[in-house]
Amino acid sequence: MLATSASIVAFSGAGLSAESGVPTFRDAATSGLWTRYDPARLASPEGFAADPDLVLAWYADRRRAVARATPNAAHRALAARPDIALVTQNVDDLLERAGCDPTRVVHLHGRIDRDRCHGSCGHEEPIDPAVIVAELRRCPRCGALLRPAVVWFGEALPPEAWERAVAAMHSADTVIVIGTSGAVWPAAGLVDLARSAGAGIVVVNPDADPDDNKDHADIVLRGRAGEVLPALLSGP
Ligand code: OAD
Repeated sequence: MLATSASIVAFSGAGLSAESGVPTFRDAATSGLWTRYDPARLASPEGFAADPDLVLAWYADRRRAVARATPNAAHRALAARPDIALVTQNVDDLLERAGCDPTRVVHLHGRIDRDRCHGSCGHEEPIDPAVIVAELRRCPRCGALLRPAVVWFGEALPPEAWERAVAAMHSADTVIVIGTSGAVWPAAGLVDLARSAGAGIVVVNPDADPDDNKDHADIVLRGRAGEVLPALLSGP
């Protein structure tokens, strides 16, 4: 399939970074301190309004996990194939750190290593990964609160990223769906879009998820991304 595809898209979720030690959302929801909290409280504008310190503490934890992490074999296998378009739900920068050209990576859900204005001025700035603090800060431009530059439940996806993702799905011959539960919309709908436009679908996931597109996939590879992708992408 891949050998005869002129246009390949890798559509990834948290499972791509799992072997780098970044907990997936499902892992985070079933282990540790955060089991007590509803994700909607930690990743939503309502949660931020109700308890900004709690939300920033959760993001500081995730930011530290990302800062500690290094790219795994799956990120490197994708970096070694510059012909493959990259659409990710991941807010980490492990694809870029593996060597992918930053302009090639479409981040549908934003970036955790940046802050942005929670008001409407549009200001965005990188955080220093060496100094991660859970501290409420104000936008230097307009004085509104700063918050992580990620998309929260109930918020719209960045329009440019969405348009690029839709265009990639429309022109794809094959979409490799890597490490996503397929439970979060509208991102999950991109796979249906690609399938309707005629793409073949390959799912890479070690576990059977209710929504991970396996019922509609042409090929399901039950394995970890760090094992499957190097083997899959190094072939002719
Ligand atoms: P989930 O945590 O929902 O799903 C992670 C998926 O990765 C599951 O299907 C696991 O079976 C799979 N997985 C685990 N380890 C793997 C490995 N080593 N190799 C391959 N797959 C593996 O994460 P997402 O689907 O990414 O949104 O979640 C989608 C969105 O929900 C996230 O982007 C986030 C969250 O709310 C925002 O941050 C806006």
